[in-house]
Amino acid sequence: MTRKRVLSGIQPTSESFHLGNCLGAVRHWVEFQDDHDAFYCIADLHALTVETDPAILYKRTLRSAAQVLAIGVDPSKCTFFLQSQVAQHNQLAWVMECLAGFGEASRMTQFKDKSSKSGTERTVVGLFTYPMLQAADILLYQADRVPIGEDQRQHIELTRDLAGRFNSRFGKTFQLPEPYILKGDAKINDLQNPSAKMSKSTSSTQGVIEIMDAPEVNAKKIKSAVTDTGREVRFDEKEKPGISNLLTIHSAISGLSISEIEQEFEGKGYGDFKTAVAEVAVEFLRPIRQRALDLLDDEPGLLTILHDGAPKARVVAEKTLDDTYRNMGLVR
Ligand code: TYM
Repeated sequence: MTRKRVLSGIQPTSESFHLGNCLGAVRHWVEFQDDHDAFYCIADLHALTVETDPAILYKRTLRSAAQVLAIGVDPSKCTFFLQSQVAQHNQLAWVMECLAGFGEASRMTQFKDKSSKSGTERTVVGLFTYPMLQAADILLYQADRVPIGEDQRQHIELTRDLAGRFNSRFGKTFQLPEPYILKGDAKINDLQNPSAKMSKSTSSTQGVIEIMDAPEVNAKKIKSAVTDTGREVRFDEKEKPGISNLLTIHSAISGLSISEIEQEFEGKGYGDFKTAVAEVAVEFLRPIRQRALDLLDDEPGLLTILHDGAPKARVVAEKTLDDTYRNMGLVR
């Protein structure tokens, strides 16, 4: 039996991934690589929608690759590559742009949020066409599944719509991908603002657990997480968003169910609970950070891993692009 395909990507838009990236996405990439035909990329072209200087983008790309590997993505079990090293991503993106409606692209909430913050004049066109490039990332590999956090759901729905539209107009060309979004860890929230998701682009990193931060810094952030004035460690997203977020983090890492953790802390205060969450999170991240630092010490080794991945990805991408062009009537 052929193995199911999985594809996912992550943007190199910061020096460090945060705990949400790890628990909501990359950790699942690691699970899938054992029994799926897995393709994972650093979405460096998507990162061009954020203004950065070349040295920073270069550094962040390598740091991102090191962190993905440190979390456990294993290039001997999957295809791990840089998006910009596989030109077919841009080529298929153009096809997707010619298929997507202006209205439907305008309805993407990530685009609306980001463009409303910076205003029309300062919003680059690439931010608008971003989801069509993401659709190309996925469809090029005929992915059956896409492990992601909740914030990416709408982009996968658009990808499915575009694939379905293409298939009905030009004949079956693309596999329709399913989002793989787990209840619980798919939305880890900011520790200081527990009703908003933890994000790489938040202005204050006080509520963001960064993988590359020193363990003491992260322990301190968790111990200073915003909670409510009560005492009871109980999951209630409406009334106790801070405590609920910490319960989610504990459960995602320890593997204990929320009710088991609630029971463990019955009659104890928030202080004890936060100390326990800090310990669980810090011990989980400590070896990941160390592995990432070790990988970064060997830049040529890291570059070799990425250079080895690209040709493997290209073989699959070329075939899909060729079929796509042919089915549309482009002369081959
Ligand atoms: P990005 O780089 O913002 O995030 C990478 C992954 O982390 C997930 N994530 C979270 N999960 C749980 N809690 C959070 N607070 C949290 N924040 C982020 C994201 O959902 C994502 O899975 N557009 C994508 C990158 C991309 C991609 C793709 C993804 C490019 N091409 C193809 C899937 C398939 C993005 O910006 O993710």
